[in-house]
Amino acid sequence: MTKSKNIFVCSSCGHSSSKWQGKCFQCGAFNSFIEEVNVSSSSPTKANIPDGSIKKIADVGNNLTRASLGIKELNDLLAGGYVPGQVILLAGEPGIGKSTLLLQVANLTNSHYVCGEESPQQVATRAMRMGVSAENITLLDTRDVDSILSYLQNTSVKAQQNPLLIVDSIQSVSSSHIKSTAGSISQVQYCASKLSEAAKKLGVAMVFVGQVTKSGYIAGPKLLEHIVDTVVSFEGDRAGDVRILRVQKNRFGPSGGLELFEMSSGGLVVLNDYTERLIARHSDDSPGSVLSVVVEGVRPLLVEVQALNKRSVFPNPRHVVNGVSPKRVEMLLAVIERRLGINTGNYDIYVNISGGINVHDTALDLPIVLAVVSVVKNKPLPAGVVAFGEVGLMGELRKATSNDKRKEEAEKRGCKLVIDSDFGSDLPSIVNKLKLGASNRKEG
Ligand SMILES: Nc1ncnc2c1ncn2[C@@H]1O[C@H](COP(=O)(O)OP(=O)(O)OP(=O)(O)O)[C@@H](O)[C@H]1O
Ligand SMILES: [Mg+2]
Ligand SMILES: [Zn+2]
Repeated sequence: MTKSKNIFVCSSCGHSSSKWQGKCFQCGAFNSFIEEVNVSSSSPTKANIPDGSIKKIADVGNNLTRASLGIKELNDLLAGGYVPGQVILLAGEPGIGKSTLLLQVANLTNSHYVCGEESPQQVATRAMRMGVSAENITLLDTRDVDSILSYLQNTSVKAQQNPLLIVDSIQSVSSSHIKSTAGSISQVQYCASKLSEAAKKLGVAMVFVGQVTKSGYIAGPKLLEHIVDTVVSFEGDRAGDVRILRVQKNRFGPSGGLELFEMSSGGLVVLNDYTERLIARHSDDSPGSVLSVVVEGVRPLLVEVQALNKRSVFPNPRHVVNGVSPKRVEMLLAVIERRLGINTGNYDIYVNISGGINVHDTALDLPIVLAVVSVVKNKPLPAGVVAFGEVGLMGELRKATSNDKRKEEAEKRGCKLVIDSDFGSDLPSIVNKLKLGASNRKEG
């Protein structure tokens, strides 16, 4: 017998509770609990392990065959392509280009495209606009997960070579077995689990589009991350052209790799000359701009850290941070004040990584400090400067991970002066050497 009762589910991690909670004990998110209808089934019946599910590891084959996504750089990101039965989550903010990219992929693979968010006409219009012939694409105009499952079971999909099911988006599909509305945590969890179960059983690879908001995910990030094999995030500045694909988790290869793309009229194209463009645009003589090298995954990447200050009209000056951790910037501002004696308290401070790139790399500490000091002091840094290193609370500078790799990349890109832990062991000495005027005077 099945009975339903209401439960409260954390919209971040899917943790459920019989009562509403202000803070999730599982993931620490605040105000994340929402009420949902839960379908609780009666206690499970005794079951025997079916024949054939006990295996010796030596008897299980380990030769993964990989299929091409049709775009070399995407294959590189996924360690050579997709594996039958692999489930990939493509997560990104609205309008970033998820459907555009997947339409390109769909056209180059044996694909079945569930258009849950858009009408077939909208998808066809996009294909036309991009100049995609779309001959290979079968559109599934449904939002019902059970009909998608029976489509996979009953048609020739299984017999195809390396079939790929694209679900755009996982929040838009739902099942009548679950009482809550489409997009709710229970629905997303149920649909994603059912689909990935089918993926493994039938050997059909799948890509789920996951909608994300600025403040996080709309529905169940952690929960989806557990269900899928691979998480690829799609980032970038919607206003700009640069898009970054980053592998955050991969059960079939290394994670951490990233690739840069650019939005063009024909869809997304690989951006090969990002660094050249960055250098061409970067001006050495304006205060508040410092180049750095981040290492995420395998490839070092030149980035520009920018800072701006403005006399604040607020009792508590604002700190606006894009692309790096705001908490980290707060810490660095405290270090600047206490260890360099530079008072930033009267200013609103803006810190930005150009191109809309998000970086999780403590080696950006030093360039952030230098950019802020440079703009507050209104003194540009010497020409051709590149900086990287982790800053401690004492104002000491620690060597960045892969320091040599960064140095090599910087020199290859024509940077003339490398500021790292070899240049100086603490912030006061570095700021002095660069004549940025470290002093104990309070700045007005
Ligand atoms: N008619 C159009 N002409 C030119 N460019 C367009 C047009 N429609 C959309 N675009 C561009 O394509 C970008 C990406 O659109 P796309 O639908 O692929 O994003 P998405 O991530 O799937 O968005 P959503 O989250 O809304 O599904 C848009 O931000 C816009 O810049
Ligand atoms: Mg879309
Ligand atoms: Zn939680």
